Amino acid sequence: MDKFVIRGGRRLVGEVEISGAKNAAVAIVAATVLADAPCRIENVPDISDVRVMTHLLEELGGTVHYLDRHTIEVDPRTIDTDTVRDQSAQTIRASYYFIGALLGRYQSAVVPLPGGCNFGVRPIDQHLKAFAALGGSCSMNEGLITVKAPNGIHGANIYMDVVTVGATMNTILAAVKARGLTVIENAAREPHVVDLANFLNTLGADIRGAGTDTIRIHGVQKLRGATYAIIPDQIEAGTYMAAAAATGGDVTVKNVTPQHLESITAKLEEMGAVIEEGDDTVRVVCNRPLRRCNVRTMPHPGFPTDMQPQITTLLSFAHGTSIINDGIWDRFKYVDELRRMGAQITVNRDMAVVEGVDHLKGATVRALDLRAGAAMVIAGLAATGVTYVEDVQYIERGFERIVEKLVGLGADIYRSQAPEGVALGKLG
Ligand code: EPU
Repeated sequence: MDKFVIRGGRRLVGEVEISGAKNAAVAIVAATVLADAPCRIENVPDISDVRVMTHLLEELGGTVHYLDRHTIEVDPRTIDTDTVRDQSAQTIRASYYFIGALLGRYQSAVVPLPGGCNFGVRPIDQHLKAFAALGGSCSMNEGLITVKAPNGIHGANIYMDVVTVGATMNTILAAVKARGLTVIENAAREPHVVDLANFLNTLGADIRGAGTDTIRIHGVQKLRGATYAIIPDQIEAGTYMAAAAATGGDVTVKNVTPQHLESITAKLEEMGAVIEEGDDTVRVVCNRPLRRCNVRTMPHPGFPTDMQPQITTLLSFAHGTSIINDGIWDRFKYVDELRRMGAQITVNRDMAVVEGVDHLKGATVRALDLRAGAAMVIAGLAATGVTYVEDVQYIERGFERIVEKLVGLGADIYRSQAPEGVALGKLG
C-alpha cells in the first residue's frame, strides 16, 4: 500500500543522472554463470529486479559482493547446481535468462516459469524452439521448465518467428559455449542485446552482428573474468525526457547514449519540445503547449513499447487527437487510471485514440505495472491538484530512487509508507 503523493504543476528544471539499463543488467547478471573467473560489473542499477537476479545467483552457489551501490563482483566458480529453486524467480521475467546460462554451463537447466509485468499472454515458444535447435529437450512440469541436452549443446541456424529480445538473449547465452556456429536470424536489435554480446565478448566469447538482425556465435570453450560497465537505461532516460516535456520544463538528462533515444526524441520534437543532444546528455526544453502526434511501437530502432504509457499520458493533455498503436503487448489497461484524472481515451484492441484535454486533474490511481506506474507519476506531475499513486513497488522494480531524482528536479513528490498492518484510506 506504499504510495507516491504528488502535488502537480511544478516545472521540472535541472539535471538528472540516469542509472544503468535494467534490461541489460538482468541478462548480464545471469551471463556471469558462464564465466570461468570472477567478473566485476559497474553501473548496475539499484532496483529490485536486479536484486532478485543477484539473489538467484547466490542461491545457485555463486558469490556476489556489492563493492558500492552500483558495482558488483561476482564469483561464479562456486556455482554447483543447474537448478534454480528459489520461488522469487517467479516474480520477474528475467529469471528465464538462467535457462540459457545454465544450459551453456551444464547442458541442463531447471528454472521456475518466469513472472514479470502482466500484459496478458507472454509466450516463450521462441526460447524453447531455440533450445531445441541447439540440442536441448524441453519439458514443463509443475511450474518448472526443464531443458536437458545429454549429447551437449551444438550450434544451429535459428530463425525467430517474431522479433524477441528475450529469446535472442537466451539463445546467445545458450550458444556461447556450444560446439560450432549458431546463427540467429530476425534477431532483436535492442541496445541491451548489444550490451549482453559486448559483455560476453569482453570475457572472450565470439559473438558478431549484435545490433543487426543476424547474429553469429562461434562457440568457445572458456570465458575469462573481466570488468564491464552496463549501458545507460534508455527507458529511464526517456521517462525523464517525457516528464520534462509534460511539465513545460528544462531538464538535462545525463549519462545517456543519445543514439538509443532517437525515436523518443523524434516524437517529443513532433509534440513541440526542443531537444539538444550532447555526447552523453540530452536537454529537453518545452515552453509551449504540447501538440498531438501518432505513435506506433516497434522493435528497436522503432519507438519502444516500454515508453508507450508515458507518451500516451503526454498526449492525453496535448492539443488535438492522437492515435497510438501497440501490437507488442496488451498494454492499455492503465488507461482506466488516466481516465480518473480526466483523460479522454478510447481503446480498441491494440489501438488507443486520445482526445487531448486541457489538463489532467489529481486523483488516486494505481501503478498497474512498471512503465504504466511511471506514466501515472508523469500524469501526477503535470496535473492540477494532488495525485496519489498506489502500488509503487511496481515502479521501484525498474526506476532507481525515482522520488529522489524528481525532487532534485524540483518536483513536489514524496513516498508515503503505510504503517504495518494498517491499510491507508484513499486520501485523494
Ligand atoms: N514473443 C513470442 N514468443 C516468444 C517470445 C516473445 O511470441 O517466445 C512475442 C511477445 O508476445 C511480444 C513480442 O514477441 O509480443 C516481444 O517480446 P520480447 O520477447 O521481446 O519481450 P521480453 O523479452 O519478454 C523484454 C523486456 C520488456 C520489453 C520487451 C519488448 C526484459 C526483462 N523485458 O521483454 O521490458 O517490453 O522486451 O521490448 O528485457 C519493461 O522493462 O518494463 C519490460 C516489460
